[in-house]
Amino acid sequence: MTCHLYLSSLALAGCCLVLASGCSREAEVTFAPREDLQAFAPKHQTQLAAGLEEYFGTANSPRFMVVAPDEEQPEDAAEPLLVQQVDRLHLAHGRDVYTRQCAGCHGNTGDGQGPAAPYLDPLPRDYRLGKFKFTSTPRGSKPRREDLARIIRRGAKGTSMPSFRWMSEEDLQAVIDYVVLLSSRGEMEYRVMRFADLELGGKLDMQDATPEKIAEAEKEVPDIDPAIFADEARFVADSWRQADDVIVRPLTPQTPYTEEAVAAGARAFVALNCYKCHGRDGRGNRVQDVGKDDWGHVAYAADLTTGMLHGGRRPVDIYRRIYAGINGTPMPAFAQPDTASGETELQRSETIWNLVHFVTSIVEGKPLPQDVIDEAIREQLKNLETQTQPEAGDTPAPEAPAGDTSTNQPPAPESPPAESPTVAPPTTEPPATETPAAESPAEPPAGEDSKNNAASAEGAPD
Ligand code: HEC
Ligand code: HEC
Repeated sequence: MTCHLYLSSLALAGCCLVLASGCSREAEVTFAPREDLQAFAPKHQTQLAAGLEEYFGTANSPRFMVVAPDEEQPEDAAEPLLVQQVDRLHLAHGRDVYTRQCAGCHGNTGDGQGPAAPYLDPLPRDYRLGKFKFTSTPRGSKPRREDLARIIRRGAKGTSMPSFRWMSEEDLQAVIDYVVLLSSRGEMEYRVMRFADLELGGKLDMQDATPEKIAEAEKEVPDIDPAIFADEARFVADSWRQADDVIVRPLTPQTPYTEEAVAAGARAFVALNCYKCHGRDGRGNRVQDVGKDDWGHVAYAADLTTGMLHGGRRPVDIYRRIYAGINGTPMPAFAQPDTASGETELQRSETIWNLVHFVTSIVEGKPLPQDVIDEAIREQLKNLETQTQPEAGDTPAPEAPAGDTSTNQPPAPESPPAESPTVAPPTTEPPATETPAAESPAEPPAGEDSKNNAASAEGAPD
């Protein structure tokens, strides 16, 4: 703990230095275009920049426009009517807070490339994919506003993401809107760029091309129709709106933390192949190849023994990490029961609670029931041998590959976001029942939740 505190204050100090040195040119905040856009027809680059500016303004003068609802659209208008999503003064305030407190790591454009970024591991989030890891929503969904508030208030333990627990509520709300703006802008840029590539052939061969050649080549390429911006803006705005309706609430009430529950969790840790990524001692494994994350960086299964869960250590946080997986990373969702063996959704939920207790015991540094784990692994290997010929139909729920396959292959990471799901995938059906949630309906301000049970302590503030 001491060590952790020391590390985070170090990161903070480093960041303040960076921010301080940036102060002299404070007024000069600008948005940078994606680097991979340079390969596109110059006119597409210009059109994309103009489209982004129409919806999101400039860094100096941000705005957040969305397509007006259908009933407000004038008939036969050449271009869709846009309306203000967030008040401009509020956004400018969010920009100021962000520039002062966040851009040193996350970058002015939200690309995760602030001046401090090269020194940080894990890297600051690049918001432009529209993907966030520590959400209360199903895999593939956007975070809820509360999720963003929570990570900003409490930080991400074990990473350089600091805790802003003393930020005023006004600053917090403004910076959240600004992060959503940067994320929406970045996702729109990415999606329109993909469209220009796949549908318009906008990516040119620029190798040793003279300006004349490029000008000639781009004549063949159709313009980006403004309707594309409207479509993509609608898509992105809808995906944020949907997040509010799909909160993951545990399907069954939280079970008590007991030794039996921990042992059952240890067996599930083997049966669902968690140990193949996280190691039989939960230490993770920096060597084991679990693939890349959607940002293109090598992913590592978390070392649970550090005691620092990036997404929070309340039981409900851990439940959600296991149930929904971790967006943008190889950590799969385990929501789907193994129907082939007759497992029900409710049984799966109970298994997840056992896993929560098992993970909690590791996080709290309790001795592992290593005999239970080793026994379960021997059992698993024996079953594998007796299964003479694995049938194609043997792998049940396709949504939770690592949970179900009997191979050592980590699941393929989700492919980069081009076709990112509009609707939540099947695992992510909003839980039908409003079950006794393991959290209070209004989440208390982050870091201050004092649930009276084994995993409640969020640790000291940084
Ligand atoms: C010292 C560097 C640093 C500063 C300053 C910083 N962050 Fe972060 N932030 C990070 C890192 C690193 C991560 C990634 C953590 C991870 O991947 O586990 C992160 C992640 C995030 C996430 C993503 C959470 C998720 O669920 O994926 C959000 C949102 C965020 N930061 C917002 C902010 C805001 C807002 C500020 C300013 C008020 C800020 N950060 C300041 C380093 C920083
Ligand atoms: C395919 C490999 C893989 C499998 C299988 C896997 N995980 Fe993970 N897990 C990961 C990766 C990668 C991360 C780190 C994600 C990140 O934050 O970047 C992770 C992170 C975690 C975390 C940390 C969350 C936090 O807040 O920091 C927990 C807890 C966890 N996994 C539990 C489990 C459990 C329980 C299972 C089995 C039911 C499991 N994992 C199966 C790859 C895997």
